[in-house]
Amino acid sequence: MSQNSIDSLLSETRRFAPSDEFAAQSVAAPDIYERAKEDRLAFWADRARELHWHSPFTETLDWSNPPFAKWFADGRINVAYNCLDRHVLAGNGDRVALHWEGEPGDSRSYTYAELTAEVKRAANVLLGLGIGQGDRVAIYLPLIPEAVIAMLAVARIGAVHSVIFGGFSSDSIRSRVADASARLVITADGGWRKGKVFPLKSAVDAALAPADGAEPTTVTDVLVVKRGENTVEWTEGRDHWWHEAVAAAEPEHEAEGFEAENPLFILYTSGTTGKPKGILHTSGGYLTQAAFTHRNVFDLHPETDVYWCTADVGWVTGHSYVVYGPLANGATQVLYEGTPDTPHAGRWWEIIQKYGVSIFYTAPTAIRSFMKIGRQVPNDFDLSSLRVLGSVGEPINPEAWIWYRDVIGHGETPIVDTWWQTETGAIMISALPGITAAKPGSAQTPIPGIVIDVLGDDGTRVDPPRGGLLVVSEPWPSMLRGIWGDPERFIETYWSKFSKDGVWKYFAGDGAHVDADGDITLLGRVDDVMNVSGHRLSTTEIESALVSHKIVAEAAVVGAADDDTGQAVVAFVILKSNQADAQTADEASALLRSHVSDRIGAIARPKRVFIVAELPKTRSGKIMRRLLQDVAEGRAVGDTTTLADTSVMQIITDKVR
Ligand code: WTA
Repeated sequence: MSQNSIDSLLSETRRFAPSDEFAAQSVAAPDIYERAKEDRLAFWADRARELHWHSPFTETLDWSNPPFAKWFADGRINVAYNCLDRHVLAGNGDRVALHWEGEPGDSRSYTYAELTAEVKRAANVLLGLGIGQGDRVAIYLPLIPEAVIAMLAVARIGAVHSVIFGGFSSDSIRSRVADASARLVITADGGWRKGKVFPLKSAVDAALAPADGAEPTTVTDVLVVKRGENTVEWTEGRDHWWHEAVAAAEPEHEAEGFEAENPLFILYTSGTTGKPKGILHTSGGYLTQAAFTHRNVFDLHPETDVYWCTADVGWVTGHSYVVYGPLANGATQVLYEGTPDTPHAGRWWEIIQKYGVSIFYTAPTAIRSFMKIGRQVPNDFDLSSLRVLGSVGEPINPEAWIWYRDVIGHGETPIVDTWWQTETGAIMISALPGITAAKPGSAQTPIPGIVIDVLGDDGTRVDPPRGGLLVVSEPWPSMLRGIWGDPERFIETYWSKFSKDGVWKYFAGDGAHVDADGDITLLGRVDDVMNVSGHRLSTTEIESALVSHKIVAEAAVVGAADDDTGQAVVAFVILKSNQADAQTADEASALLRSHVSDRIGAIARPKRVFIVAELPKTRSGKIMRRLLQDVAEGRAVGDTTTLADTSVMQIITDKVR
């Protein structure tokens, strides 16, 4: 985050308490924090018991082998049953679970009874393909109901899904499928985005084609949902149409209970190395915290609210707050396939008006882009149904927070700024809208039952008001259970920095400030992870993609503060000497931008690529990204005394400006 944004965050003094009316109907009671504090584990056990257990647990937390936690381990649970059958059996089968809106304007709604019936059939399809408990299934779909159905069907039979965001490239699919040894891929013949159909099946085909010298993939079957009406290549025996398989499947499927620690999903996320990590989540603890936070942070009244989270199921927000949290709570929600500005700039507001959305959850980058277009667009729609607004994915600057409340929330709605990560599985820090007096730009308070600290580099708690590093000090139900196939990396990445003397602390990789009231304001990543439009990207991963191109000798990537996207990817590249004259810098830069997009996905495409002759390095050869960040953000370049060659920065600065 830029110094200006940090200054404005920290000097914010406005407070917005919930109205008496809102507080009176709040789902969370004011004493919830005390109750959680009195007996933290008993508090979580009670939350877990709000779910349906096929057989009850007796032990809440097993922390005998830290940092490998087990929650509710001797209980048996079926995650999909909790999201589906339970509501039908409770008499809520006619309640709408999903109002789906396709980008071209088609729409479909599913009641809980209908969604349950679809998932049962899909579960039988998976079983028919030989998928069983513990098998990995990759899902590469647009945001259509089948994405939700596929995830729940996998969960229902105790298998493990790995959802791959539809914007990732075939290389990214290949590495994820290989890392998880997936047996099955579920994809589509296309999806709608920006008024056009984009292909998905062809990327899967490319990912599964044997690469030179590579192992054959573990995938035996591909299910293809018909959505885009694209022509697709077909591999007989391997590929099956989803609609045909589902129609032919048995309608009945009885959900069995699996152990609470049965893996539910793997979700790959960028870390500080070139290789994305497969974050592993399991069943009982994950669902407990996803459901609890969804109900309390958004003040969900499932009988009356219409909830909409704009995230794609390819990200963790889509897992916890589109699929598992809302459906476990029996919520009615909206799902929208496309982009916010298709076919017109008011599409999102039109959807809110159409379905009477009352709870809305999105990312600051979207809010900032609407701010830029201006309030006249949302003002054309009736947004009076909204009563709670949420923000996630990156720090929200106070200006955007106030605009969100004034223009979208008609100057009245509480806003919850929710901090969490793929690794934490569910929300960790957030106001509770009926209780907390909100501070614009601040995530504020750990949710009940969660213990957070802000530490100095030496591991001692900072003395507020002060900044430091964010840690989670006690295990939590929805915590990641590991990195798929790499326990060493799990310990090293998250637990090695601050754990000592048998006390384990999870290091989140974020900087944070605690004020005199004890409220926490997030300041952004402190490692080589960038946050672009709320999406996590690794500098090293993009650098590897750049140097994989034959014209590149060396590359350094930084996240530069950006008014629209929070951070933007900026690359500094040295071309191989025989290439330097072969093309103009503009040509090379365009070529490399699309190369990164091909290798990783369009979200990773650098905003700018500067062709330079040198990179700033210390005497030991380490690239000083901090100095490149100064250049990219248009600041005076900081201390260069540790550089091997101090003139390098002058040359780069001249080139860039
Ligand atoms: C950032 C997304 C400030 C943070 C749920 C974290 C935030 C990373 C917030 C995780 C917030 C998320 N305020 N920063 N409310 N929420 N972040 O894994 O840097 O995609 O470490 O999970 O996003 O990103 P991830």
